[in-house]
Amino acid sequence: MMANALLSLKGINKSFGPIDVLHDINLDIRAGEVLCLLGDNGAGKSTVIRLLSGVHRPSSGVIEIDGQPVSFKSPRDASEAGIATVHQFGGTFPLMSIGRSFFVGVEPTKGIGLFKIFDRKRANAIAVQAVQSFGITRITDGDRLVGGLSGGERQALAIARAVHFGARVLILDEPTAALGVKQAAHVLRIVNEAKRRGLAVIFITHQVMHAMAVGDHFAVLIRGGIAADFRKGERTREEITDLMAGGETMAGLEAQIEAESA
Ligand SMILES: Nc1ncnc2c1ncn2[C@@H]1O[C@H](COP(=O)(O)OP(=O)(O)OP(=O)(O)O)[C@@H](O)[C@H]1O
Ligand SMILES: [Mg+2]
Repeated sequence: MMANALLSLKGINKSFGPIDVLHDINLDIRAGEVLCLLGDNGAGKSTVIRLLSGVHRPSSGVIEIDGQPVSFKSPRDASEAGIATVHQFGGTFPLMSIGRSFFVGVEPTKGIGLFKIFDRKRANAIAVQAVQSFGITRITDGDRLVGGLSGGERQALAIARAVHFGARVLILDEPTAALGVKQAAHVLRIVNEAKRRGLAVIFITHQVMHAMAVGDHFAVLIRGGIAADFRKGERTREEITDLMAGGETMAGLEAQIEAESA
């Protein structure tokens, strides 16, 4: 039997004025699983993420955590509920040191009273240890500036930080889009590690191979609705690719391009 959902979307609709962007989104996200949220440009993936991260509010429908309805008035509410969102470039602070950036915005009341007065050495040690625990052993100096890290390293830092401060849901909106093959593979390994530690991960990507490498559960958005919701192994790579292209077959698209150029 499958575990209960950690996070659920129930009948979510979202409009911006007259523009309906999401309709009737139902999704269950479980601890220790990676949900790949797929779909073509403009399908509504980032809008789903913005609802879950407290940036926007649903027009109707409910978000539940552990079966209890929640309502996020701000990104802070979502992060206090354990939902961490990591953006493409890690979203951290390029001009800060690794150690300093790790503790930005963390209130001393959250059980780290030691940092009421910022203790550089200790912060550096904790940050470096957290990043290394995700396999990034090249980072050894917490005084290095975040801006000097590679894209994959910044992602690793942001993910390690979220996990360290107790996130239960990790949301990654196209983390591998700007990365080379090796760095992307490393981010995928980190996604697996977060899953192994029991987080629920929501992973958005346009790269079907990346999705298939880490996904346990897949949901495909087409024009703001869930067009398919399936588990690992239930669809072939070709079927997933066609769904990601908005339901058109790649063969169909190729024929169309050929006809146009003839
Ligand atoms: N604040 C807004 N006001 C009006 N329309 C919006 C707003 N935010 C998003 N949209 C529209 O909602 C649709 C879905 O956008 P969204 O950013 O969620 O797509 P996406 O699936 O993340 O696409 P991509 O793969 O290109 O990132 C788009 O047509 C977009 O123009
Ligand atoms: Mg997007």
